Amino acid sequence: MSIISNNLKKIKPSPTIAVTQKARELKAAGKDVIGLGAGEPDFDTPENIKEAAIKAIKDGDTKYTAVDGTPALKKAIVDKFKRENNLDYDLDQITVGAGGKHVIYNAMMATLNEGDEVIVPAPYWVSYPDMVLLAGGTPIILECNEKQGFKVSPSELEKVITPKTKWIILNSPSNPTGACYSESDIRELSKVLTKHSHVYILSDDIYEHVIYEGFKFFTIAQINELKDRVLTMNGVSKAYSMTGWRIGYAAGPKEIVKAIAKIQSQSTTNPSSISQAAAVEALNGKQDFIKERAKSFQERRDFVVKALNEIDGIECLNPDGAFYVFPSCKGLIGKKDLNGNVLNNDSDFVKFLLENSGVAVVQGSAFGLEGFFRISYATSMENLKKALEKISSFCKSLS
Ligand SMILES: Cc1ncc(COP(=O)(O)O)c(C=O)c1O
Repeated sequence: MSIISNNLKKIKPSPTIAVTQKARELKAAGKDVIGLGAGEPDFDTPENIKEAAIKAIKDGDTKYTAVDGTPALKKAIVDKFKRENNLDYDLDQITVGAGGKHVIYNAMMATLNEGDEVIVPAPYWVSYPDMVLLAGGTPIILECNEKQGFKVSPSELEKVITPKTKWIILNSPSNPTGACYSESDIRELSKVLTKHSHVYILSDDIYEHVIYEGFKFFTIAQINELKDRVLTMNGVSKAYSMTGWRIGYAAGPKEIVKAIAKIQSQSTTNPSSISQAAAVEALNGKQDFIKERAKSFQERRDFVVKALNEIDGIECLNPDGAFYVFPSCKGLIGKKDLNGNVLNNDSDFVKFLLENSGVAVVQGSAFGLEGFFRISYATSMENLKKALEKISSFCKSLS
């Protein structure tokens, strides 16, 4: 009999964290490695936010708080939704967890029964299907190819909804593709979703502030007919460069929010009191640096997309947001590297790129779409220039 639970056997460790770890190990062994695998901004947490955390420590804000977040943080979140999304919520419609990932996990644990289906559009963030599986649900993968901009088409959505569908997970801007749903994209999907009143929508808005060129962010809870069935997840990790602080939150139906708090009360209790104080400052304090940072991400995107499209065998769309691109490497499959290794698929491409050229990226199949790879350009322009030169030489060396 195995000590490990059967439930755990259904899932795999996060492949994106695995790539970052592999790159770290190669670096520690003295290899020249550029990691383009990490999903976090390379900018530092702003000073005013750090100061708020130091003040919280000095003021003795170091004890348990309400399980699902301090009143001050919930109020800051209510204000954020009003200010940025024109959405009205009461305090008891807000829950705070140890990162957006934790909030989504809790939401799945709180709502899924064995056999419940969750529609997960692919390419997807690596954790969605595994969280659904852990909670006893069945992920229904809905493939969205590059011709549709990696976005869900309303007619295809209609086809995969069944009486067992409990959730659809939408993520815009998207990890791993950077694809963004415009207001009209969302209105089209909403026409389908309003017809199926048993389906709830989990909107993962974590990259809301990483958007470019006047793209106007719109979130599905802004559709009045659907708002009662939408759980909107967001957090401070990406917008405020606070990945290590572990604060994420959600707003939505009271019943779900209460159920999430129940799980949290028997598992993690509250997220760190100090991080919560810092998150209050993040949401209530100055916001001007967010646009400046998005501008510098846009410059990097422009450079990366252009450089990739100059490489024979690689094709890359120009996404509106997040700090990822998801180029196709289909034109290189079947070729051999200088050691005679055949690139049979995207995983081989990624493996041999790392071994030959020291550039770490993640294979598209990890996100549910074969023939692609993900680059995170949340690193310096200097690193990106070096990395793109190496990718280009690697691709040219294939025969
Ligand atoms: C699409 C998406 N959702 C949610 C998260 C969770 O972020 P966090 O747990 O740091 O708030 C991430 C982090 O990489 C992400 O890429």
